[in-house]
Amino acid sequence: MKKILVTGGAGYIGSHIVEQLVKLKKKVIIIDNLSTGHKKLINKKALFFNCDIKNFKKLNKIISKYHFDSIFHLAACLSVEEAEKKPTKYYNNNVIGTKNIINVCKKNQIKNLIFSSSCAVYKDKIQQVNEKSKLKPKGIYGNSKFLAEKLIIKELHKTKIKYAILRYFNVAGASESGKIGQITRGDQLFKNLSLASIKKKPKIYIYGNNYKTKDKTCVRDYIHVSDIAKIHLLTLSRIKKLKKSIILNCGYGKGVSVLEAVNEFQNQIKKNILVKYKKRRKGDMEKIISNNSRIKNFLKWSPPKNPLRLIVKSCINWEKKISKQY
Ligand SMILES: NC(=O)c1ccc[n+]([C@@H]2O[C@H](COP(=O)([O-])OP(=O)(O)OC[C@H]3O[C@@H](n4cnc5c(N)ncnc54)[C@H](O)[C@@H]3O)[C@@H](O)[C@H]2O)c1
Repeated sequence: MKKILVTGGAGYIGSHIVEQLVKLKKKVIIIDNLSTGHKKLINKKALFFNCDIKNFKKLNKIISKYHFDSIFHLAACLSVEEAEKKPTKYYNNNVIGTKNIINVCKKNQIKNLIFSSSCAVYKDKIQQVNEKSKLKPKGIYGNSKFLAEKLIIKELHKTKIKYAILRYFNVAGASESGKIGQITRGDQLFKNLSLASIKKKPKIYIYGNNYKTKDKTCVRDYIHVSDIAKIHLLTLSRIKKLKKSIILNCGYGKGVSVLEAVNEFQNQIKKNILVKYKKRRKGDMEKIISNNSRIKNFLKWSPPKNPLRLIVKSCINWEKKISKQY
């Protein structure tokens, strides 16, 4: 059986993809440098290599040894705030790293490449973005994904390799298995709210309350991590079947403001969360919601009902669980 490679498979989203692949008895190999990934998230049924995708020689050695059919490429740095301070790190990791992946694909007759992109590639303040909306990343992180996308399209469109560029909107939640979820503490709202929710006196910082949105806080389109993982598997089988490359927005098409998310957490934990406002963060978009018509048609997929409640529930359960372990 052909093996599947997951770069970034020790990370939050990658580990959910690996879990679903393993469940389907696929042979999975993970490449990750554990910079933000965790040994605890590495699926025991997958083969793991501690390798940095910037190291072309090592990367190529692993990939040429195993016969891969497809690569899910998730390895990247993704802190919007850090990217503004360390642009070169983000360029090297996310753009040059992706260039290495493209080159190993070409060298090793890989058939399919699925790339994790982001809604951060779009221009800010468009009501609902579709895949043809204007691309104009506001920050360094978004720009690194934009440049990586451009490389994939330019380098692969004349080859036999099929690609899918998945532009995730905001990913949150944890696996139903209870075994994996988000560990890394970054600057993500749902992680911060999950951490707050298990405290006696929950408190949260909100960056900016002077945006032109319904309640003056930022608006995002949150998607459950299990759905993102499922979308990867569906996309791979679709591009294989249709022999077609595609760009897909991965979101539910529903805008949730920061304060709405805070309220949902408050309702579920039955406690008040103290909100403290800070000034806006550089690189943060005001509002970004997906038009998901293309993905719904292409994958015959539809978002769940009441997704926010499900996402928040799984976040709280996961945080309770890991608070006892770490
Ligand atoms: N979390 C979100 O809401 C979101 C939204 C849009 C896009 N994405 C994209 O999804 C992908 C996965 O993100 P995540 O949320 O799981 O974050 P994560 O930090 O948990 O996962 C990234 C993984 O990549 C690994 N990695 C980073 N640089 C590497 C390198 N040079 N070589 C090898 N491994 C490396 C890290 O160790 C980590 O395990 C990223 O490409 C990210 O840009 C995430």
